[in-house]
Amino acid sequence: MNGAQRSQTREPHVLVTGASGGLGAALARHHAALGHRLTLWGRNEERLNAVAGSCRALGAMVVTRIVDLENPTAAEHAYLEDDARDPVDIAIFNAGLSDIRAPDALTEDPERVRALGLVNYVTPSVLATVAAGKMLPRGGRIIMIGSVAAFHDLPFGTAYSGSKAGLARFSTALDLYTRPRSVPVLLVSPGFIDTPMSRRLSGARPFLVKPARAARLIVEASAQGKRHIVFPWPFHVLRIIDMLAPYRLRAALLGRVKVTQSP
Ligand SMILES: NC(=O)c1ccc[n+]([C@@H]2O[C@H](COP(=O)([O-])OP(=O)(O)OC[C@H]3O[C@@H](n4cnc5c(N)ncnc54)[C@H](OP(=O)(O)O)[C@@H]3O)[C@@H](O)[C@H]2O)c1
Repeated sequence: MNGAQRSQTREPHVLVTGASGGLGAALARHHAALGHRLTLWGRNEERLNAVAGSCRALGAMVVTRIVDLENPTAAEHAYLEDDARDPVDIAIFNAGLSDIRAPDALTEDPERVRALGLVNYVTPSVLATVAAGKMLPRGGRIIMIGSVAAFHDLPFGTAYSGSKAGLARFSTALDLYTRPRSVPVLLVSPGFIDTPMSRRLSGARPFLVKPARAARLIVEASAQGKRHIVFPWPFHVLRIIDMLAPYRLRAALLGRVKVTQSP
């Protein structure tokens, strides 16, 4: 039975990582309002239960799971268990970690670089591979939450821009293989979303998007079968400028950006 046939017989089962807050919670609530069944993953049990409660209040059936995505092997086993219980139709790999080099530090913290590599790149890539393997015989959709940081060499956030660039390339490469076989992969590259992650940053957050609006844009783009969305649109323009600008200009501009974060 393929994905289209399955969706005629039952509401989709949606798995969301990082559902305990921010964008993941908004994605969970958006799908709950559509009547979809949810499996919500997070690390903080209290926050995850609160989000699950708000989804149940919207009428959704919800299962929760505590998973630390710094452990890709445990995450892989968890995905296989959840898929065996109820085959996943839409897998949203949303969880992420950010970091900015401290102003008085010579480099980013190597432990933090490791964590960002695992949570932003290694584990979602492992999980998307596992999800694709399960979905290819039956259909399904995968959504990878990247960042516009992937488009730029951020000297103050090497681990964040590097891990998101890796994720972006992984997503589009996977999509080339799986899309013709009924499993499209959507790469999402957002600018600033008003969540705890961006609230930690000092200074302006230009073109800030509310999480509920971001969730709607993402769900619509996936339903329309898009490969990549960048929002809000000015970040598209910045991406093109970055691609066309000569190295010295890019280095001068990016070297001048000053960003700090609260703990
Ligand atoms: N906010 C922005 O401006 C922005 C911009 C571009 C891209 N993004 C991307 O959007 C996604 C969602 O971010 P957000 O803004 O919603 O951030 P957030 O509010 O900080 O939420 C991050 C989520 O990821 C989970 N997470 C982090 N580390 C984890 C780990 N080791 N194991 C399991 N779960 C973990 C958190 O779980 P717990 O809370 O339970 O620990 C939380 O649910 C991320 O991929 C982020 O990179 C955000």
